[in-house]
Amino acid sequence: MASWESIYQAGKQLNRYPFSDIVSLIFQMKRDNPALKVLELGCGAGNNVVFMASESVTCAAIDCSKSAIDFAQARLSERNLNADLKVGCFTDLPWPDECFDLVIDRSALNCVPKPQIEVALQQVLRVLRPKGRLFSQMYADSHPAHNSALNATSEFTTGFRYEGYQDIDGLYFASEKDVTLLFDGFEKVNIALSTSQTLSGNILSAQWSISAFKPDTDQVG
Ligand SMILES: C[S@@+](CC[C@H](N)C(=O)[O-])C[C@H]1O[C@@H](n2cnc3c(N)ncnc32)[C@H](O)[C@@H]1O
Repeated sequence: MASWESIYQAGKQLNRYPFSDIVSLIFQMKRDNPALKVLELGCGAGNNVVFMASESVTCAAIDCSKSAIDFAQARLSERNLNADLKVGCFTDLPWPDECFDLVIDRSALNCVPKPQIEVALQQVLRVLRPKGRLFSQMYADSHPAHNSALNATSEFTTGFRYEGYQDIDGLYFASEKDVTLLFDGFEKVNIALSTSQTLSGNILSAQWSISAFKPDTDQVG
């Protein structure tokens, strides 16, 4: 986690624009629920949060880096927008039970080892309303950063040599089976793999997009 603070302090990874999948999802969900309440895990410098707040979505977000949260808060304040931002770890979410309709994870959960992701997903289930949704984007184990790292394991990978990843302490890369097991407590789990590759077939990136719902408590048991 310390590496993320150094990355933001150095002014790196200050993503400016929201990710397109998140833009589409927010527009789609807001149509059905204008009072949508969203939590972003690992919000970084606030690119997705600023977009959501500018669309009048009530949003909260957490990041372990104080510098990232300071950037996000400054971006909100410049635009007279509000969001409930907190510095902290997503394994211990400082919000009450069942208060969000949607939780977003844009490549943040995969910044910690698999056992911590399991804890964070229990927290997500706690803060989601029954039938609430989780949208997660997670690195796939076919990603070349995983395969070219000095210490690639099934729980956490460190020692990156792949261009653009050298500053990061470690990441978790999931197989399809890992994703299925990780999201076991959810229902209607939909998993899609996106890869980008060169014309000659070299894979440049690979990630899972996961949509999953918290079961309706009335129907449990
Ligand atoms: C790849 S960046 C993604 C940032 C943002 N979601 C985006 O879409 O641009 C991952 C983020 O997760 C944060 N992060 C890593 N481990 C964390 C933890 N245990 N708790 C909270 N945030 C964490 C990092 O500080 C970083 O901002």
